[in-house]
Parts: sequence; C-alpha cells; structure tokens
Amino acid sequence: MKPVLFSGTQPTGKLHIGNYLGALRNFVELQNSGKYECIYCVVDLHSLTEDFDPKEKCGQILEVAADYLATGLDPKKSVIFQQSQVPAHTELTWILNTITPMGELRRMTQFKDKTQTNVSNLFEEAQRKTKTLIPTLETTEGIMAKEETMRMETANVGLFDYPVLMASDIVLYDTKFVPVGEDQLQHLELTRTLVRKFNNRFGPTFIEPQPILTKTARVMSLQNPTKKMSKSDPVGCLFLDDSPAEIENKIKRAVTDSGSVVKHDRTEKPGISNLLEIYSALVNEPVPKLEKKFAGKNYGAFKSALIKVITDHFADYRKKKAVLAAKPKLLASVLSTGSKKAAQMANKKMTEVCQRIGISV
Ligand code: AMP
Ligand code: TRP
Repeated sequence: MKPVLFSGTQPTGKLHIGNYLGALRNFVELQNSGKYECIYCVVDLHSLTEDFDPKEKCGQILEVAADYLATGLDPKKSVIFQQSQVPAHTELTWILNTITPMGELRRMTQFKDKTQTNVSNLFEEAQRKTKTLIPTLETTEGIMAKEETMRMETANVGLFDYPVLMASDIVLYDTKFVPVGEDQLQHLELTRTLVRKFNNRFGPTFIEPQPILTKTARVMSLQNPTKKMSKSDPVGCLFLDDSPAEIENKIKRAVTDSGSVVKHDRTEKPGISNLLEIYSALVNEPVPKLEKKFAGKNYGAFKSALIKVITDHFADYRKKKAVLAAKPKLLASVLSTGSKKAAQMANKKMTEVCQRIGISV
C-alpha cells in the first residue's frame, strides 16, 4: 500500500492565499503525484473552539468542500471527509488526553496566540504603581505569571486540547506525511511525541508522521508583512474568492517598503519580499529571476504585473467555485461518501487501540 498522507482545514470562513500556497495547492499536487493514499478532512470539530454562529457552520463546512474540489482535489483519487462524521476522532482524543501532559499544551504557540490577554494594561498599571517607565525583572515576571493565570482562567478546554484532537486525526490513519503550513509544525511535533509515548507504554500502534512544507509555508499579511496572513485580520488577507477588482484594490494598497527597487530582503523589505514570494510561487519562477525581470522598474509596475498573475491564476478556481456553490447537495454527498470510507479505516484502528490499552472485554 502507498504511504498515507493526511491533512485538514478548519471551516471558519473564506480561505486566503496563505492557506492556498502553504497547504491547499500542495494537497492537489501530492494527490496528482499518485504516490500517496491521500485523505483530506474538513476539521469542523476544531473550528468549534473559536467563536462561531451555528447558523453559519454548515455553510462553512460545505464551503471548504467546495474549495477542495475547485482547487482540484478529486473524490475519486482522495478521501474527502468531515471530521465530526467519524466519531473515532473524538474517541481517540479522549484516550490520548490521558497520556498528554498539560505542560506540553500550555506551551503551544497557537494556544498562546489565540488566548492573548491584554498585558499592555498590566504593564501600564505597573508603571503607574512603581513610577518607573521600565519595569524591573521582578515586575515583568509577575506580569507574565498574571497573564498565564488569566489565560488559563478564561480559555475554553477545547482550545487547550486542540492539538490532541489534531494528533488523533493524524494517527488514526497510520499517516506518514502531513502537508501543512509552518504554523502547524509545533502541533506535529507534539503528535510525534504522543506517538512515541503511546507506543512505548502500550506497544507499537501508531506511526510517527512527518510534515511536508511548501516553499511558501508562511505567507505574510498584505497590511502588516511581519505578521502571518490570517483570517483574524481580514484586511491583510487576499481571499481565493476575491473578484479581480478586489484583487487589484488589495494589491495596490498592500504595504511596501521605503525605496523603490524590487528586491527580496525579508528584514529590510518585508512587504516587497512577501509579494515577490507570492508572485514566484504562482508563476513557478525563482525570486532572483523575478528580481532581474523587474530590475529598473518601480513598485507600481511590479504590482500591476502581480495583479494580473493573481487574477489569471484563480480565474478557473473562481468559475468552478461558483458552480459548486450552487450544489450544496452534491458537496454534502461527497463528504458523506468520504466519511464512510474514513470511518472504516478509523474504526479498525480504534479496535486495535482498545485492545492495546486493555479495555476490550
Ligand atoms: P486553517 O485555516 O487554520 O485550518 O489552515 C489551513 C492550512 O493553511 C494549514 O495547513 C495552515 O498551516 C496553512 N496556513 C494558514 N495560514 C497560512 C499562512 N499565512 N501561510 C502559509 N500557510 C498558512
Ligand atoms: N490545525 C490545523 C490548522 O489550523 C488543521 C488541522 C486539524 C490539521 N487536524 C489536522 C492539519 C490534521 C493537518 C492534519 O490549520
């Protein structure tokens, strides 16, 4: 059997070009390489860890399915399914929870990012109290401890446990490869740790998965190019659904750097570097070649060329997506067919897990 490859996307709204270049486009290429048994999941249970409107959730789930199909995933070649239709994911999560130290979860960057508390208030308060501008080490440590307490008091348990559900997604299918963006590497490392721990304690049951990254594993925000592009900051996002007019508008307004030379330099020119990387990924040409192509041209000329590249690249996607959006029944049936296939594989693994841990009577 070919090695299994698994990945997932949260249904939380429209996908952006970071999702596409960091993950989704790779999903399609890996599928079409014919070298893997590909499984692609719509991870709806993960998406419940953040604020959501129940009236919108179904539409968001079907939308990820539409995005999968419109970018080229094919249910005849890959298993495409919905996480919550396969109860084994939550069952295994419970079991893996029992071998996961809370300390590991507390250290996860994504958890910290998503539970950011407003420490600047605490700093200002300390400045007022101590009447010094720069807080002492002791005060800083005190503030950080306070922040940690606030975080743990208010964050929901699901958000905290998110990486264990993700580990369950992956190991249920004997997954060898996981294509993801750079932001998910820490979760994958935790998955590997849990696999080793489980196998040591209960005997060889799971496989240690490896990440597959793209060259553009971290696309930055158009408005704030030192931060990653993220749905939580929609103005800095270029969505795959954006119309040609919106693409033009967003690229024209994208933050660039001082100077006028189109040159890649992540530290000095984060804005232009990000745009160059997007351009390079879409036309499959290395950045130095593009620097030569735009030598002597200004940012305006480069941006106009980029607008055309993006608009053309997603023309086919936009057409297919519009057709699929009008067929919710078809999308739902793709997910339920895929979920049946996934459940068969996952249930087999769960039987093995239950035997290993000694609960099959
Ligand atoms: P999510 O929408 O959070 O489920 O992410 C789906 C996939 O897109 C994951 O593999 C992420 O690692 C990837 N991803 C998200 N944001 C970015 C970004 N700014 N650059 C590259 N990859 C990203
Ligand atoms: N955590 C991933 C993200 O936010 C989504 C995800 C959930 C995932 N389960 C997964 C990705 C399993 C790869 C494999 O992007």
